[in-house]
Amino acid sequence: MWPVTTTRNTSGELQVGGVSLVDLAAEFGTPVYVYDEQTLRQNARTFREALAAVYPRSRVAYAAKAFLTTAVVQILCEEGLGLDVVSGGELAVGLRAGMPPREIALHGNNKSGAELRQAADAGVGMVIVDNEQDIDLLAVLALNCSEPITVMLRINPGVDVHTHRKISTGLADSKFGLPVIGGQAEAAVARLAGTPGLDLVGYHAHVGSQLFDCEATVSSVDALIAFAASMRECYGVECRHLSPGGGFGIAYRDGDRPPSPQNWTNVLADAVRAACDRHALPLPMLTIEPGRAIVGPAGVALYSVGSVKELPGIRTYVAVDGGMADNLRPSLYEAEYSAEIANRKAAGDEREVAIAGKYCESGDILIERIVLPPVTSGDLLAIPAAGAYCLSMASNYNMALKPPVVLVNDGAARLIRRRETFDDLVRCDIPLR
Ligand code: LLP
Repeated sequence: MWPVTTTRNTSGELQVGGVSLVDLAAEFGTPVYVYDEQTLRQNARTFREALAAVYPRSRVAYAAKAFLTTAVVQILCEEGLGLDVVSGGELAVGLRAGMPPREIALHGNNKSGAELRQAADAGVGMVIVDNEQDIDLLAVLALNCSEPITVMLRINPGVDVHTHRKISTGLADSKFGLPVIGGQAEAAVARLAGTPGLDLVGYHAHVGSQLFDCEATVSSVDALIAFAASMRECYGVECRHLSPGGGFGIAYRDGDRPPSPQNWTNVLADAVRAACDRHALPLPMLTIEPGRAIVGPAGVALYSVGSVKELPGIRTYVAVDGGMADNLRPSLYEAEYSAEIANRKAAGDEREVAIAGKYCESGDILIERIVLPPVTSGDLLAIPAAGAYCLSMASNYNMALKPPVVLVNDGAARLIRRRETFDDLVRCDIPLR
């Protein structure tokens, strides 16, 4: 749940990457998001090495949507990861960070012509075709490209997964990919195979996020490979590259026990081998796309406590200086988090409180129920496992300033994204006079 370097120093202050969170709050203010470089690198390396150990022709592409800054891409690039992007904006940041274009794949269920052109001009390694319109647009673009555009087809394998409805993507009724059942995926293969300038190298699926059970992913691999076998038979298309996407869950609270990267990669490698064996297919290149599992545990959100409002017999609201503008997940998915008092080793009678945000919305509650020692105004509250899908989904609701991001390592803190200012809030705002 916490970054691997987390400790309490002799004054009882929480410390990450060798830096006291009290010192970070003093230097950068709160709310602030703290990323531990060691955890980030370790997660990236663990996934890459674990997969390579059991399936040598493989790659790990980080899903940029989980959290994207230039420095993070630079670190993950150094660790040998590729990058998955879903928009022109993510692509631009990935390129700016120096990620080699060949290592970038463009996803999206409604890519614009401009985004596809941007990807083709940059020379990205792969475009994942989601729908008929992608094929229409790519076919035209390919006419002006000197080399074929490499594509994978995203299929919808019709796999049910155990996760929140809003982050489940493999069911028959989904806006992502083309369903195998009913023949739409097959029709796309027929078209792609007959389109000059497009090189269909294989198939992709992503069945959901924050997954704890490997079974859904195995079913998805089975469906991908069965589909690949039948497309080889019908259209002579060889499956040279396969991706079951990402979705590997992480611990948010004590007692959460997600499979380890080794569990995931073993299960996936076995599933690919077994299915290819069954269908007498050569082993394809394998790409996995973890997002949350790389950055989630590396990030800690640090807030200051302000008002503590006790409603006798009802509940105590401990309000912090952030909330749904920097972390929408509790409001959107009923996501559950834990927290600790960061500025002191707290003692005293523990009791249940709610951690409320500061925004004008009753639903702006970061933690519905948490048992904590007495918390008072001025305390610092740290929320672990805040590295994924918090800042990447942040907003300026109530004209909130997006918090800064600090990278810590070996006792040093480095600002990698500054706090927004009031000027930033009006940078795109055009007055009448
Ligand atoms: N690949 C594809 C094609 C995806 O759509 C996603 C996530 C990933 C990889 C990475 O999934 P991860 O390993 O991070 O679970 N905002 C939600 C999660 C949305 C995930 C969307 N797609 C949340 O906060 O839980």
